[in-house]
Amino acid sequence: MAEVNKSEIPEQQTPDALMLYGFWYRALPGERVETANLVKATLLETPLVIGRDLQGRAFALRDACPHRGMPLSCGWFDGQQVECSYHGWKFDPHSGQCQLIPSLTSDQKLKIDRIYAGNFPCEEQDGYIWVYLPEPALPGAVTVRSAPPPGPAPRVLNFSDRHKIAYLTAEMPVSVDHGIIGLMDPAHGPFVHQAWWWRRRHSIHEKQKAFEPIPYGFRMSAHTPSSNSAPYKLLRLYADADSITTTIDFVLPNLRYETIRAGKYWFSSLTTVTPLTRNHCRIDVVACWNLFRWLPFGADLLKYVFSKFVEQDRRTMEMQSEGLKHNPHLMLIDDADRPARWYFQLKAAYLESRRNGAEFRHPMTGPVTLKWRS
Ligand code: FES
Ligand SMILES: [Fe+2]
Repeated sequence: MAEVNKSEIPEQQTPDALMLYGFWYRALPGERVETANLVKATLLETPLVIGRDLQGRAFALRDACPHRGMPLSCGWFDGQQVECSYHGWKFDPHSGQCQLIPSLTSDQKLKIDRIYAGNFPCEEQDGYIWVYLPEPALPGAVTVRSAPPPGPAPRVLNFSDRHKIAYLTAEMPVSVDHGIIGLMDPAHGPFVHQAWWWRRRHSIHEKQKAFEPIPYGFRMSAHTPSSNSAPYKLLRLYADADSITTTIDFVLPNLRYETIRAGKYWFSSLTTVTPLTRNHCRIDVVACWNLFRWLPFGADLLKYVFSKFVEQDRRTMEMQSEGLKHNPHLMLIDDADRPARWYFQLKAAYLESRRNGAEFRHPMTGPVTLKWRS
């Protein structure tokens, strides 16, 4: 029997859609939350109510009253206390601590300050409200206050004080895993992202990219962008072809940092794919740049280009979700799907380190060069 090269066997893999706790996630754009208002949000199947106090500070509580589970988003917020619509209990918005139970008489000594609505660490960064989702408590355990996050919420990288910033957001009816591997997949470009001003399908050619491990992720090492792409042609107006570099990092649980530098000009983005529920995710792109500052419509132009892209991806995943309904067998093949495989391996390594308390074991041992046609 002829020997079969293992790399020739397509690997079957079904995205498992396990959601990773213990990380910061983007909940929603900050401008959607006005002072003294309550807005619903869902992250990792967890219902949240998000608001902003009179000082402008954002907060996030579990959207369920600890008394009888009424969504707190059905209640009221005066900018200082969240009031439940069922029996009027009042809570501090940041700590979740109960501050008033209207039904108690003056001689009843219930210690209300020991009652908490579930609260989550919350930060506002680059125009988004981020919420930290800790590991869920063991069944039966009574959570009082959640553990503090290990560090601040992620930020878009920026390289000079004067810059512009913009965001885009789109929901997709697929699991976070399909959202993420769709984002890092190099082979769909020529088919999904065709446009006369961008690239055409016949421009497909062989590419070779160097990757290296970084903490909790991997990096597509700094390289000159593909000569058939529009940003490259545009950047040529600003700088020498050789000085243009782009670097792309993926970091668990869902962060994709892209940095393009051309002399003193730069463009940087942080894209996240956030699990809302098991079968829904949302892509959020925040981009920051000091290019086109002289161009009056620079920001709009960029937003237009990006929104076309995101819409093409969203539409693709909407169609894909039809195919996924019947649970087909899936494959990860060769180099074009290697980043997707690393993603699943990183996730498994993270879950394993959480389970047994051992050190995180990175699935990559060193730099790797991948080849594909796109
Ligand atoms: S359910 Fe909220 S106060 Fe009773
Ligand atoms: Fe895409």
